[in-house]
Amino acid sequence: MDRRLRPMLAVSVATLMLGCSPTHESGEGRDGTPVAGRWYSVEQVQTGSKVFQDHCAQCHGAQAQGVTADWRARLEDGSFPPPPLNGSAHAWHHPLSVLLQVINLGGVPLGGQMPAFANRILDAEKLAAIAYFQSFWNDDVYGNWEQMGGTE
Ligand code: HEC
Repeated sequence: MDRRLRPMLAVSVATLMLGCSPTHESGEGRDGTPVAGRWYSVEQVQTGSKVFQDHCAQCHGAQAQGVTADWRARLEDGSFPPPPLNGSAHAWHHPLSVLLQVINLGGVPLGGQMPAFANRILDAEKLAAIAYFQSFWNDDVYGNWEQMGGTE
């Protein structure tokens, strides 16, 4: 691991542990008051809302609704536009580990447009951003996501 990242990581881990509730075992990376039936907490959705507005909304829309009419239609350069993340596209096909990987690596390795966030935001902020856009998923979409691997 890049040495410069270590202090940052230590801070985020400490923050996670301090905020840990006794019900932690039922949620992967959960930090705070659980949202019923979900892996994340109320606090993570609140933090994630801010992270999302600062880093993601310009491409994915303030409420993760997307900003282009058809996210399936390629742009002139052959890449795809940012998809909605609110449950109407296919983000629910990806378990948590894959969602984190997309956020860390971005789309550039696959010829896409999304920037890599690995060193730009904390791991806790990445999880919070996911909690935020998943808060727009209805229980059916969330249930389908769990079938596809969910918090794996
Ligand atoms: C500059 C525009 C841009 C920004 C900023 C951006 N994204 Fe993306 N995102 C994209 C594009 C475009 C794609 C489709 C893959 C590609 O072409 O890179 C994508 C794909 C994704 C996917 C995969 C969705 C799927 O259905 O497979 C996730 C998850 C995601 N972004 C989350 C985020 C989060 C969280 C942030 C903020 C931390 C963010 N993105 C910031 C443009 C962006």
